[in-house]
Amino acid sequence: MSTAPPLLHLTVNGLAHALAVATDAPLLGVLRNDLGLNGPKYGCGLGECGACMVLIDGMPARACVLPVSAAVGREVTTLEGLAEGDALHPVQQAFIETQAAQCGYCLNGMIMSTVALLAREPRPSDAQVRGALSHNLCRCGAHLEILQAVQRAAELMAQAANGQGCESSSGG
Ligand code: FES
Ligand code: FES
Repeated sequence: MSTAPPLLHLTVNGLAHALAVATDAPLLGVLRNDLGLNGPKYGCGLGECGACMVLIDGMPARACVLPVSAAVGREVTTLEGLAEGDALHPVQQAFIETQAAQCGYCLNGMIMSTVALLAREPRPSDAQVRGALSHNLCRCGAHLEILQAVQRAAELMAQAANGQGCESSSGG
């Protein structure tokens, strides 16, 4: 008679989960297959492309090479956890405004890495942005628009911090 594995407790996007999964299962598979969170993408599966990026206690982490046990007792944030109700996160808003995508497959990683960058460096230089995104690959070559999106996100977040709201720039 086989015994069920002990439940593993994860906190994802502020919600607590108890899951019967192997402790060495990749976090990405647990997020996508057990929790239905498909924001993080499977790209290389080798920790090289950044498509699977999530935040662990606010720091970017590649979920494809991280065993789920490494996330126990820590705050996991996925793309789905960024918006507040109907209000997109300013980084998401900025990527839309600047149309910083072609196929969009890299965007999860680009956005999650940008959220982490702007949390520690609200007005990054271009060199800092390039450094923060250097482990996120975009096979479509949307890099210039992505750099613009990060700077637009910094503007939106500064406006929000100054009480100016998070207005779209579509009129100007
Ligand atoms: S899928 Fe994780 S780094 Fe490529
Ligand atoms: S927009 Fe296609 S991989 Fe970046």
